[in-house]
Amino acid sequence: MSKGVMPVSRIIGLGVGIPETVLSNADLEKMVDTSDEWITSRTGIKERRIMKKGERTSDYCIKAAREALAEANVDPLELDAIILATISGDMRFPATSVFVQEAIGAKNAAAWDVSATCSGFLFALYNADTLIQAGRAKKILVIGSEMLTSMVNWDDRATCVLFGDAAGAVVLTKAEDDRGILSIAIGSNGSYVDLLYSIGIGTASRTGGTENGEAFLFMNGNEVFRHAVRMLERTAVEVVHKAGLQPSDIDWLIPHQANTRIIKATAERMGLPMEQVFLNIHKYGNTSSASVPLAMYEARKEGKLKDGQLMLSVVFGGGFTWGGMVVRF
Ligand SMILES: CC(C)(COP(=O)(O)OP(=O)(O)OC[C@H]1O[C@@H](n2cnc3c(N)ncnc32)[C@H](O)[C@@H]1OP(=O)(O)O)[C@@H](O)C(=O)NCCC(=O)NCCS
Repeated sequence: MSKGVMPVSRIIGLGVGIPETVLSNADLEKMVDTSDEWITSRTGIKERRIMKKGERTSDYCIKAAREALAEANVDPLELDAIILATISGDMRFPATSVFVQEAIGAKNAAAWDVSATCSGFLFALYNADTLIQAGRAKKILVIGSEMLTSMVNWDDRATCVLFGDAAGAVVLTKAEDDRGILSIAIGSNGSYVDLLYSIGIGTASRTGGTENGEAFLFMNGNEVFRHAVRMLERTAVEVVHKAGLQPSDIDWLIPHQANTRIIKATAERMGLPMEQVFLNIHKYGNTSSASVPLAMYEARKEGKLKDGQLMLSVVFGGGFTWGGMVVRF
């Protein structure tokens, strides 16, 4: 008998869509008053990928979706739903997920987007896991994709160095054995909207926000950092216990890749050595809702996250929003 509770749903395919264009710290040194040393020591980021002009968020979602469906050996017509987490979609409407639906030919799927900033993938997965538990869906495509370089202020060195573009997708189905999502939790607290937000296209813009030079992404990094560390630990403890496990049972911590220092603090608080933490932030920066599926994908491809192993994932983002899950692969 394996440890922990039995899962409801299981990830049977993973895919990614990653822009080709690399923007290194050396490139950023030519754009704003910064240095590779500052960015590396404060964040762990060495380079990030950025989308080209004329490309769309859905281009990368479609690529990720096709790869995930191929690994899962699932025909798009079998999909009951496509749930896409993004705050940087193709258009204000329709939802970016419908462009994915059309491109892959998932005619039987309902498609909708979820907005929960960097926690979006966990929120979308929570939706999907719940639908499967309720018997309302059998196979669901869940995507996390963000093209935040399209909304950062390239004159603001405190934020423009942090973000990168990517998409990640998973195919979810009913669990049949002890492999799958053992526990999943999400949460929000609207008291902290002032610490991390973006205006410029919403109705809030009409009250003059853009005149204050805040048309793009705004963040109070220090305060976000402080809250992130606290909430990530709290969520990690919650989902590990919900899964019927102890932190010492976890094989891999695969957290939202926002800042290496935040990740180290979380691992330390959970008593997990850094050898059990998967990091790819140095290659991609903070890809927001794409970060967890992208990290899971690479951890699997690199042969680190093996079949039967237990993964703990925790995320945090603007809102604030947060989430966590324990998965047995
Ligand atoms: C953004 C972050 C890396 C900044 O690191 P920090 O150690 O808190 O740095 P501070 O904001 O205190 O800034 C320290 C100094 O560096 C400067 N600075 C900011 N960005 C810089 C950059 N890119 N290059 C060089 N200097 C920079 C600041 O202007 C400040 O200078 P000052 O002391 O002369 O005023 C950090 O706060 C962070 O990671 N926060 C969480 C961000 C996050 O994860 N957000 C997403 C959540 S999903």
